[in-house]
Amino acid sequence: MKKLVFVTNNNHKLAEAKAILNNKVEICSLKDIACFDEIAETGSTLNENAEIKANYIFERFNCDTFADDTGLEVDALNGAPGVYSARYAGEDGNATKNIEKLLKELKGEKNRKAQFRTVIALIENGKKHFFEGKIEGKIIEKQKGNGGFGYDSVFIPDGYDKTFAELAPEVKNSISHRAKAMQLLVDYFNNKEK
Ligand code: IMP
Repeated sequence: MKKLVFVTNNNHKLAEAKAILNNKVEICSLKDIACFDEIAETGSTLNENAEIKANYIFERFNCDTFADDTGLEVDALNGAPGVYSARYAGEDGNATKNIEKLLKELKGEKNRKAQFRTVIALIENGKKHFFEGKIEGKIIEKQKGNGGFGYDSVFIPDGYDKTFAELAPEVKNSISHRAKAMQLLVDYFNNKEK
């Protein structure tokens, strides 16, 4: 089975990726390859950040690898927080502070439209490939649900009446931005086999 290093320290993302890529690709984490480095995300786009992370591992470990970068893009905030989603409330921020800031910025705003967008950069045999997935929805006025992570508790995907944090993980994993990008990654490997 194809073995890939997923450049992440986020256990939620790792679990999601393993569930989505189940039985198709074997996923190793940074911990599995004993890489404990902080990789600075200095890019100004999701593509750049994903590429920086994948390159870092490829150059040091010379293995097939992929990295993702995700942003929450809010229409009324001209696409913010976008590539800065993780640091929206500042360098020492966290999910709670990021959500507080987001809800404050959107206070009184009628247009609640937003999307999550994930870009995956794959380096396979030294060649780069990019895959993108997105899901549209809206930001609600206060948090709902205990599941998921990040901005999940304030995002309701279009066609649903529950936040990502209220939906079962299997449901989120079947429709999410990351699931769609991962599916393109799986399709890429499946098509190669034909
Ligand atoms: P990164 O891709 O790990 O840099 O994530 C950027 C920001 O988006 C972080 O604040 C994450 O918590 C958040 N984020 C990434 N993926 C998701 C998701 O699936 N749901 C909610 N928030 C997410």
